[in-house]
Amino acid sequence: MRLAQKLKTKTLLTLMRGVAGAERLIKGHSVDLFNPAFLENPYDTWGKLRETSPIHYSMALQGYWTTNFDVAQAVLLDKRFGSDVRKHEKRVKRIKSNMSAEQLENFENPSMLSLDPPDHSRIRKLASKGFLRKYIQSLEPDIAKIVDACLAKTSNMPAFDVLDVLAKPLPAIVIAEMMGLPESDHQQFQTWSEDLIESTSTSDTGVLEKGAKANQALINYFRKIIAARRGNPGDDLIGQLIAAEEAGDTLSEIELYNTCLLLLVAGHETTTRLISNGMYLLLSTPGSWQTLRENPSLIPNAIEEMLRVEPPVQATQRFATEDMDFHNIHLKRGDIIFISIAAGNRDPAINPNPDKFDIQRQDIKQISFGYGIHLCIGSALARLEAKVAFEKLLAMYPELQLSGPPPKWGTNPFFRGHNKLMVSRG
Ligand code: HEM
Repeated sequence: MRLAQKLKTKTLLTLMRGVAGAERLIKGHSVDLFNPAFLENPYDTWGKLRETSPIHYSMALQGYWTTNFDVAQAVLLDKRFGSDVRKHEKRVKRIKSNMSAEQLENFENPSMLSLDPPDHSRIRKLASKGFLRKYIQSLEPDIAKIVDACLAKTSNMPAFDVLDVLAKPLPAIVIAEMMGLPESDHQQFQTWSEDLIESTSTSDTGVLEKGAKANQALINYFRKIIAARRGNPGDDLIGQLIAAEEAGDTLSEIELYNTCLLLLVAGHETTTRLISNGMYLLLSTPGSWQTLRENPSLIPNAIEEMLRVEPPVQATQRFATEDMDFHNIHLKRGDIIFISIAAGNRDPAINPNPDKFDIQRQDIKQISFGYGIHLCIGSALARLEAKVAFEKLLAMYPELQLSGPPPKWGTNPFFRGHNKLMVSRG
């Protein structure tokens, strides 16, 4: 990355933090995404902002934030909001001015996550075929074997890092097997996925560069894999997509690569964080591990509560596709609105006593997998992996405890999780 570009990014971040600080002085609160106190506990800020208004304008980010559950869902359902930033000339100009050639190519060819209908619906329909509920449920014995193999490594360890041993490798191995990718590549694409996610919210030029390289490496990786499988695609996830692309007008070549990349990356860090955030909540909330051990049938409910209290994806974003009035706010075409999943899930009007982690909570409402047309297609898979992981951990380690100094939350405000979570057998 050029020096001028590096300086520009650094200056922008300093400016953003400065404006957030000024905003806090004037209004008493602000969304200061990179403030260490916010990263440790974003929920206090959301609570204060929610009391003020369901939509908060952030001067620092020059965009709006939803602060409650109903408005978050309303944005995600409203067809006047879109996900494709390329439609907004002013934004495109600003974004492109900061991009390397590699980043530009990625920007011009987004995955379904950043597309609007009709392209979004066409690609989503194809990709969803590999995630039908019945098929996902049939994977349970295979997932159990993978969890057993991961946990077998801990048999001689008095203490271990849940992330290293289980939460990172499990989703990587599962999705790789679903896609028919060689086992020898798991570690490599786990690293690429991490680099890519890490680069989604940072000003660190080294991290940004690593992210762009990882993206390109993944595209090249899929190019090779797909080339080798043409003519004999098989019926796994990649095979189904190759067949669709070869059938003609349903999927272009670049869409095929991008969809493979998205499926590989989207389920990785997110499921990792569901398992590790869930583990942290269970072990740091007195009595939860014991209650679950005595009553494992509560595991699915406990997973909903983990998703609600510590959502791995904290926020997503949409753009106003026209000038409009929305919940007493006038939005202009191209305005950005961030949907705070973290704030929505802890809305006391929807989930009473929202800061309490309660695995027996009734009628849990959460939007951790999104809502509306982009609702996560991997939710059943993520829930199943977490269920098997907790069942096995509870059976193997009935007295598990947190170990060592309190773990620190990571520094990406959009993806919440620890980098290390040490536990001991008790
Ligand atoms: C706990 C784990 C997971 C969480 C918290 C999560 C969260 C989300 C969220 C919030 C969205 C919607 C984003 C938006 O509306 O802008 C989404 C979309 C998506 N997720 Fe997940 N996800 C998880 C696991 C997975 C897995 C395992 C896969 C697949 C292997 C996956 C694949 C996708 C895809 C392809 C989309 C895009 C759907 C679309 O654009 O129509 N996710 N996910």
